[in-house]
Amino acid sequence: MRFTNSYKEKLKKIVIDKNLTYYIDTMGCSMSENDSSKYAGILESIGFKREENEEKANLILFNTCCIRENAENTLFGRFGTVKKYKMNNDNVYIVVVGCMTQQKHIIEKIKKSYRFVDITLGTGAMNSFPSKLYDLLKEKKKNIEFVEVTNEIEEEVPIKYDSKYKASVSIIYGCNNFCSYCIVPYVRGRERSRRPKDILNDVKKLAKEGYKEIMLLGQNVNSYGNDFKDTNYSFPNLLQDIEKIDGIEIIRFMSPHPKDFSDELIDVIKSSKKIARQIHLPLQSGSSKILKEMNRKHTKEDYLKIVNKLKNADENISISTDIIVGFPGETEEDFLDTLDVVKKVKFDQIYMFIYSKRVGTRAEKMEDNTPEEEKVRRLERIKEIYEKYLPENNKKMIGKTYKVLVEGVSKNNDKVLTGRTSQNKVVIFDGEKSNIGKIVNVEILSEHLWYLKGKIV
Ligand code: SAH
Ligand code: SF4
Ligand code: F3S
Repeated sequence: MRFTNSYKEKLKKIVIDKNLTYYIDTMGCSMSENDSSKYAGILESIGFKREENEEKANLILFNTCCIRENAENTLFGRFGTVKKYKMNNDNVYIVVVGCMTQQKHIIEKIKKSYRFVDITLGTGAMNSFPSKLYDLLKEKKKNIEFVEVTNEIEEEVPIKYDSKYKASVSIIYGCNNFCSYCIVPYVRGRERSRRPKDILNDVKKLAKEGYKEIMLLGQNVNSYGNDFKDTNYSFPNLLQDIEKIDGIEIIRFMSPHPKDFSDELIDVIKSSKKIARQIHLPLQSGSSKILKEMNRKHTKEDYLKIVNKLKNADENISISTDIIVGFPGETEEDFLDTLDVVKKVKFDQIYMFIYSKRVGTRAEKMEDNTPEEEKVRRLERIKEIYEKYLPENNKKMIGKTYKVLVEGVSKNNDKVLTGRTSQNKVVIFDGEKSNIGKIVNVEILSEHLWYLKGKIV
């Protein structure tokens, strides 16, 4: 069945008349989490109820990731268990969506070897979720066909967030950068920015519902607007407009690309009262030679310059990053350049990965002769340096007071609250549950490597 009318109309047609539940297993990045919130929103708006125990759910949706090989293996590992649920119960549907299923060879593999799957849907084909659900639920038809990424942007998709206080909002889909190691441009299509009015309306609505923190999402947020033909409206403009929305107190964004980090953006961050004092700035490698091979379009020096400008704008800004070790051709000397940047920047958070070869990317064909043990050792060497200076970074925060959005209670003690500072540091402190969802001032008392302890002042 194909629908041509508005999203709300589409969904009305597939409202279910019996009690069914869903369970979503999300793999991958914040974009993928944001997509899962949309899948949850769609399912709930047609009558599905959320089920925390996957064994009891009628519809199990896997939102997949293919950024590295182990992400793909996770899905096939999970299939073993869900197949059993399906064998024991006719009323169980298996849906597989996300980046993995935006690849033809994966769809072929599912068709051939995992016949219990009912629907597959790539990231670029989310628009056809309602019609595929209709076919499955009303006409008992499976649909495992491959659909190319569509460049349409669908608005008004219902969205159900896990938190009542912080929410993510996608501002740009896709990626044009083709970093040579990366699969994302192939599975998420070209860059398409949402219209400013749609984004601002979403944020205003969230503010009215009591949301305090917004995370703006995109594979490359600072190329937001480059694809607009009729306006020069850019990422810094969007940040300034969101700043004006009452009720939103903390604005985060992920990920900016160093090549597009303009002075204008730094000025907007500097003068903002709401933009978090934490910038996630992926480094990937500290070697200009490797960065060139990676097609990152910036050098080691460019990167360090941006960090200096950010620190000059506000010394309280913390920097987090992504690093890949063992890219094809990475020598000890190249790796020392990465360590050099780690020592200079003293990142507050580092997501480190061993290079993983991805089918269809440019790096797939590059010769890779660094042994696996050496790559693992390189990861460890970054970790050793990081864990040595991190307490020093944290100690600088002791005695100072930070605004913290209270996110919940500690797992072991419900008199202990947890939240994050603007720098994205986890902090725990005594307090009443009634503070959850509020912003409180917390003075930092001590540091414990991965978290801080403080008190409400
Ligand atoms: N758009 C974001 C990154 C999204 S992917 C950006 O450019 O910053 C998240 C991280 O996964 C990347 O920053 C990179 O460090 C890592 N990554 C991507 N492809 C990889 C690969 N083939 N092997 C290992 N790590 C990879
Ligand atoms: Fe991948 Fe590079 Fe695009 Fe990030 S910017 S998603 S690393 S291609
Ligand atoms: Fe994975 Fe797709 Fe995100 S490949 S990291 S879920 S964009």
